[in-house]
Amino acid sequence: MFETLSAPAPDKIFRLTGQFAADPRPDKVDLLVGIYKTAEGRTPVMGAVKQAEARILETQETKSYVSFEGDRAFIGAMRDLILGDAVPSARVAGVAAVGGTSALRQVLELVRTLRPAARVWVSDPSWPIHAAMVDHIGLARGTYRYLDRAANALDRAGMLADLSGVAPGDVIVLHGCCHNPTGADLDLGDWAEVAALCNRTGAIPLVDMAYQGFGDGLDEDAAGVRLLAREVPTVFVAASCSKTFGLYRDRAGVALIVTSEGAVAAAQGQLTAMNRNNFSFPPDHGARVVQTILTDAGLRALWEEELNSMRETMVQNRRALAEALRVETGSDRFGFLAAHRGMFSLIGASTKEVDILREKHGVYLVGDGRMNVAGLRASVIPKVARALAEVLA
Ligand code: LMR
Repeated sequence: MFETLSAPAPDKIFRLTGQFAADPRPDKVDLLVGIYKTAEGRTPVMGAVKQAEARILETQETKSYVSFEGDRAFIGAMRDLILGDAVPSARVAGVAAVGGTSALRQVLELVRTLRPAARVWVSDPSWPIHAAMVDHIGLARGTYRYLDRAANALDRAGMLADLSGVAPGDVIVLHGCCHNPTGADLDLGDWAEVAALCNRTGAIPLVDMAYQGFGDGLDEDAAGVRLLAREVPTVFVAASCSKTFGLYRDRAGVALIVTSEGAVAAAQGQLTAMNRNNFSFPPDHGARVVQTILTDAGLRALWEEELNSMRETMVQNRRALAEALRVETGSDRFGFLAAHRGMFSLIGASTKEVDILREKHGVYLVGDGRMNVAGLRASVIPKVARALAEVLA
């Protein structure tokens, strides 16, 4: 069966992690995978998570099955975190999934089942799995312009022009906040334009929410998805708890569908059946941790404090690197780093320049020049700035 095949190309984001680990240089810098690191370069379990886990360990009496859809209290807590009071809960169907990636997968498979002719529109650039997953499951894919590479900012006109061609029932993948890989986000006016476009064309937005709280704050980062939920009749949401709860390996996430109250039972049934067909029961541990944190005032306050501190570190890293680059280059060429939000920015490096940064300076970026700013820390910023200024001169 496999004799005539070769292995698929390694994952673009994780490809170099092994090489980084094997690199003997003590001053190497890992800016690859979207993982938050402290000033000491560690990714510790969050304090709120540790406390929630202790409580679960103490009180949990069974590991028996929960349900195909997952724990309703977790789904409800995530729905409220993301959608606030934008729509009544009676208009929202939801299931727990195997992290945010599988939430996306459940929604896209549902689209393929119910609307096989739909085209799924993905920003150029985007998180590589968006396009890969659409192709993998055999849906048609469209691409819309997103980044003005000269200005390193949202290409508003290009995005809206490309999306004006969508057909009724097509799906538009949007990043709720902290766009991966560009760091350039929609503002509220842009979200309103997207809502109007969906209503004009009959397209359905699918919001990938992986970084709520990493941009400007929990409510601020959800303002776009809430606007869509209020204004567009059907909205898909795929949300991840990996980064903002630091639960990467525990795989917690939700798929939500905002629809009319009359259609919610059908939507819920479709999502639940999709879980059953793909993995029966979503993992429970991470979901239970998140639910414990979000429904306990003390744990929630601690989590928000820790989340705020992660966000402030990222904003601070952005400012410090932009300033160091201003001094190194004598120009404002990298000023966009301070304006961007979230874990990532595209630094504007070619594949060859990314190779030189890695080989000569030990600075590891993803091949398209994506930098994980959450992997920076004060002690390495001068070195990274010098390397970028030299290689990208
Ligand atoms: C990233 O983009 O670095 C993360 O979302 C990790 C992943 O799964 O790609």
